[in-house]
Amino acid sequence: MSEGWTHICDLHDVMPGAGVCALVEGHQVAVFRMADAVFALDNFDPASQANVLSRGLVGDLKGERVVASPLFKHHYSLTTGRCPEDPEKSVHVHRARVLDGGIWVKVGGETVRTTCPYCGVGCGVLARNIKGSVEIAGDPLHPANFGALCSKGYALGETVGLDDRLLHPQINGKKATWDEALDHVSDEFTRIIAEHGPESVAFYVSGQLLTEDYYVANKLMKGYVGTANIDTNSRLCMASTVAGQRRAFGEDAVPTCYEDLQLADLIILVGSNTAWCHPVLFRRISSEKERRPDLKIVVIDPRRTPTCELADLHLPVRAGTDVWLFNGLLAYLQRQGAVDEAFVANHTVGASTALEAAEASAVDEATVAKICGVDVARLTEFYGLFAAHERVVTAFSQGVNQSSAGTDKVNSIINCHLLTGRIGRPGMGPFSLTGQPNAMGGREVGGMANMLAAHMELENPDHRAIVQEFWDSPRIASAAGLKAVDLFEAMGAGRIKAVWIIGTNPVVSMPEADRVRAALERCELVVVSDCVAKNDTTAYAHVLLPAATWGEKDGTVTNSERRISRQRSFLDLPGEARPDWWILCEVAKRMGFGSAFDFRSPADIFDEHARLSGTGNEGERAFNISGLAGLSPSGYQQLEPVQWPISKLHMRGSERLFEDGRFMHPDGRARFIETPPRGPAHAAGDEFPFVLNTGRIRDQWHTMTRTGRSPRLAENLPEPFVDMHPQDALLTAARDGELARVTTRWGSMVVRVRSSGEIARGTVFVPMHWNDCNASQARVGALVNAVVDGISGEPEFKHTPARVEPFPVEWYGFLLTRRSSSSPEVTWWTRINAANCTRYEIAGRELPKSWTVWGRNVLGATDSGADYIEYEDASARSYRAAYIVDGRLEACVYIANRADLPDRDLLSKLFRIEKVEAAHRMALLTTGAVVEGEEPGPLVCSCFAVGRNTIRRAIEEHKLTAVSQVGACLRAGTNCGSCLPEIKALLGGVPKSIPVSTSTALPLIT
Ligand code: SF4
Ligand code: FES
Repeated sequence: MSEGWTHICDLHDVMPGAGVCALVEGHQVAVFRMADAVFALDNFDPASQANVLSRGLVGDLKGERVVASPLFKHHYSLTTGRCPEDPEKSVHVHRARVLDGGIWVKVGGETVRTTCPYCGVGCGVLARNIKGSVEIAGDPLHPANFGALCSKGYALGETVGLDDRLLHPQINGKKATWDEALDHVSDEFTRIIAEHGPESVAFYVSGQLLTEDYYVANKLMKGYVGTANIDTNSRLCMASTVAGQRRAFGEDAVPTCYEDLQLADLIILVGSNTAWCHPVLFRRISSEKERRPDLKIVVIDPRRTPTCELADLHLPVRAGTDVWLFNGLLAYLQRQGAVDEAFVANHTVGASTALEAAEASAVDEATVAKICGVDVARLTEFYGLFAAHERVVTAFSQGVNQSSAGTDKVNSIINCHLLTGRIGRPGMGPFSLTGQPNAMGGREVGGMANMLAAHMELENPDHRAIVQEFWDSPRIASAAGLKAVDLFEAMGAGRIKAVWIIGTNPVVSMPEADRVRAALERCELVVVSDCVAKNDTTAYAHVLLPAATWGEKDGTVTNSERRISRQRSFLDLPGEARPDWWILCEVAKRMGFGSAFDFRSPADIFDEHARLSGTGNEGERAFNISGLAGLSPSGYQQLEPVQWPISKLHMRGSERLFEDGRFMHPDGRARFIETPPRGPAHAAGDEFPFVLNTGRIRDQWHTMTRTGRSPRLAENLPEPFVDMHPQDALLTAARDGELARVTTRWGSMVVRVRSSGEIARGTVFVPMHWNDCNASQARVGALVNAVVDGISGEPEFKHTPARVEPFPVEWYGFLLTRRSSSSPEVTWWTRINAANCTRYEIAGRELPKSWTVWGRNVLGATDSGADYIEYEDASARSYRAAYIVDGRLEACVYIANRADLPDRDLLSKLFRIEKVEAAHRMALLTTGAVVEGEEPGPLVCSCFAVGRNTIRRAIEEHKLTAVSQVGACLRAGTNCGSCLPEIKALLGGVPKSIPVSTSTALPLIT
C-alpha cells in the first residue's frame, strides 16, 4: 500500500452495517462496512459533541449512504460527510479501501465538494488536499455526474502545481505591487475613456470565469463605464444557440435537462462528438442504451467520431448542410401528418411561413440527400425515426453553432420540435450542450456584448431602466457592443485603445488569430489577468495581473442543464494571486465607483445577482434565481446544485422549461423561424480543395494551460495533427505519420498527418489546442476564416477552405530530457510533458555539419568530459546519443531519415532508473528496445495507461469480443470510460470507412 495508508483490521472483523473506531495518526476515525464497501469518517459527532459515530447505524437515506448519530436525529453522508438535516454540520471524510482482505485508511485533508473546470457537463468533484497533493474523485451526490468523471476530470489533481504560474503583478515586464498595478490599470482606463470616450475601451472575458467574476465585469462595463464592449470567448462556441433560443423562445433558455436523455426513445446528436467533448453525458447515454437497447441514437456529423460507436444510424452529412437536413425534416413531418396541430395553434406563431421556406429549399428527400451528401435511404430512415418517436431529444453542439449559418441551424432544429409539440415534457426537446464550464453563467449575468444582466435586453428601454435603477449606476449602455471578431477588428483599426483580457487566450483561440496579434500590438493598453505567466496572449500585455484559478477560487457556475453549482476553494492563494472579482472591484473603486463595487465576498455578489434576476420579473423572464437571494454566508457555502428558475415558489428549482406551453415572447408563444439555407461563406475550390474543420480532442482542454501539465492526458494524442482520409492523403502525397503543411488564405501550419479513418473525403480535421508555447507551427486559429454568423457573430470554425501538401524534411527525431526549454532550434517541434521527462518531437530541413556537435548542444553535454555516448550511421542518416550524469540518464536523442522511431514511452521509463547499466547504455544506441516489455503503442486508456498494441494483443490472444472482457483482462475502460468508444472500435464495432462527397458543390453566400 502506498505512503500514508494505515491498516485498520481485516474486512471480516467488521460486520456489514456496523462500524469500528480506530486511532489513525492521532485522529479518532470511525470505519464502517456496507456489504464489501468501506468508509471512514471522523468519529466526532458535531451534533452530540461526542466521539460516538462509530457506534451509529449505517443505512440508506433517500439514496445516500449515511451513518446515524447514536445520540441525535442527525445523519452524516458516508461519502461527503454532509449532514442532510443541518447544512451547518458536517464531518471529515477519510479515504478507505479494502486490499488483500484488509481495511486501510488514509487520513488528512478535508474533502471539498466542487465542480470540474472543463466542459459544460458541470460534473461534481470531490477534492482533497493532502499536504499539497490533491486527490480527486467524482461527487456521487452531484446530479450532473453521480460520481462519474472523465479522463480530464480524474487528472485534475495533476494540474494544480505552481509551475508556470503568474504569481505577482507586472507592469511592462517588471514586477509591481498590487497597488501600483491597480492604480495603473484604473488611471489608464480613466484617461483613455476621458480622451476617446467609453467606446474606446473593451473587456474580453471567458466562459471559464465564475458567475460572480462575470457579474462584476459586466456591471463595471455596462453600468459604469457605459459601453457594452464586453464580449467573451463564449461568442466562439455558444452564441448561435443564444441567438436561436432568443428568436424561438423569446429568451436564451434551454428547455431540457440531462434526465431527458434517459427518458428519450430517440436521441439525435448533431455536430457533437459527445464521446470526447461531453464524456460523462455520453456515458450516461450509453448506459441507458445498454439498459434499453430499443433507445435509438442517430449521429449527424461529417466525421465518424467515437460518438458514432453508439449510433444506430450515422448520417455523415456534408459540412454546412444541416439547415437543408432539418428543413427537409420539417417538410417531411408535415407531409407525414406528424404535426401537433393543437400545440402549433395554441403555443406558436409562424408555422406556415417556416414550412413554406422549408419546402422551397427541401423539395423532397432525394434532393435533400443529394445536397447533404448522404444516402437517401439513410436520410429517410432518420426522418422516419423522428416522425415515429414522441420522446425525442435533439442535442447539438459546436458543429451546429460554429457556422456562418449557426443561428439558422439552431432554429431549423427547434422548428422541428415546435411542429411536433415535442418540448417542455419529459424525454424531449432541443438541447444545446454547452462547451465551457460556465458559458451559461456568463449569459445569465449578460456577459456578452449584446445582452444585459439577468437575461434582460440591451435594446429594451424598460429593461435598461430596471438595471440602471437597481445598480444605481450613473449610466447604462444603450446599444449592443462589439462582438469578439468585430472587437479585435476595431482594435486593429485603432478604434479600441484599451482592452482587458480575463482568463482567455485569444491569440490562439480567435479566427484569423495572427490579426489578433496585430490588433493587440496596436492597443495603447493591454491588460491580461491570468493564472499562467506565459501564453501566446500574455506576450502582448502591458500589465499582467495574477488571477486565482480552479481550486483557489470560490463562486458558482451553471452547466448545460441550467444547474447552478458551487466551485469551492481547497487550496491557498499562491503568491499574490487574487480572485478575478476582487481585481475588478479594486479597479472599479479606483475609477471612482466605490460603493457599487464594495463586495466583500462572492456570496455578496451572488446575492445581488439573485436579487436583480427577480427585479421587475413577474414571470416575464425565465431566468429568475430570486429564491436564492438573501442566503447567509453558510447558506451560500452549502448551496446544493440546483436548476434555475428558482423563485420563492419553486425553491427546489425547475428541471424543465415551458411545461405549460408558455414561452417568453410577450404573447407567450414560441416563434417558428424561416430558415432559408445557405452554404458556408467560403467554398472549397481548386486552390483550396479541402474543408478544414477544427475541434477538441478527448484528453485536452482549450489551449492546454491546465490539461497540458498532465503526462497521462498527453499520451492519447500527444501531437498536433491533421486528420485526413487515406485516399486524400495519397492524392496529396502527404503520408501518415509524416509532416504536412496545411494552408488556407489566412495562414498556415505544419503538423503530423494522421489517417484515423474518422474523416470523410474532402474534409480535414485539426485540433484547436496547440499553440506557440508548445509547438512551432500549430496554431490552427491562424488558419480559420473570420467569417461570422450575421446574427450571433459566431465564427465559422468548422469550414475554411484549405490545402494540404507534404512538408519534406531531412530528418525526424525525438528528444527526451529532464530539462524543459521553450523551443529547440530545429525546423519543427512539439513539446510534450511525459511521465519522467519532457519529450520533444523534432524534425529538421538542415543537416548539421556534425551530429556530435549538434547532439551535445541539444542534450546540454557541452563539457568535453561529459558522459556522452553516441552512435552514427551516416549512410542511413541515423544518429542516437545519450547524456548521463552521475549514472542517471539526463537526456537522449534519436534521429532518423524516417518518421517511425522507437517507442518513446518505453524509453522514457529509463528516466526512472537511478543508475543506467551497461546493457541500457548499449541498448540506448542500438535498437531502442532497452526496457523490458512489449511496445504498448499509442495510449488509449489514460486511467490505466493501456496502449493500443496491448489492447490489440489481448483481443487476439484471448479472443475477446466485448469491452467488458477487455476491462476484465486489462482494466482499460473500467474507470472513467472515456476510452470505451476506442476500445469498441478496436474490437471491430465500427465500419472502416464512410462514403461522403466533398463540399465543393455548396452554394456561396453572395
Ligand atoms: S465530462 Fe469530464 S470535462 Fe466535462 S465536466 Fe465532467 S469531468 Fe469535467
Ligand atoms: S481513459 Fe479512463 S477508463 Fe480508460
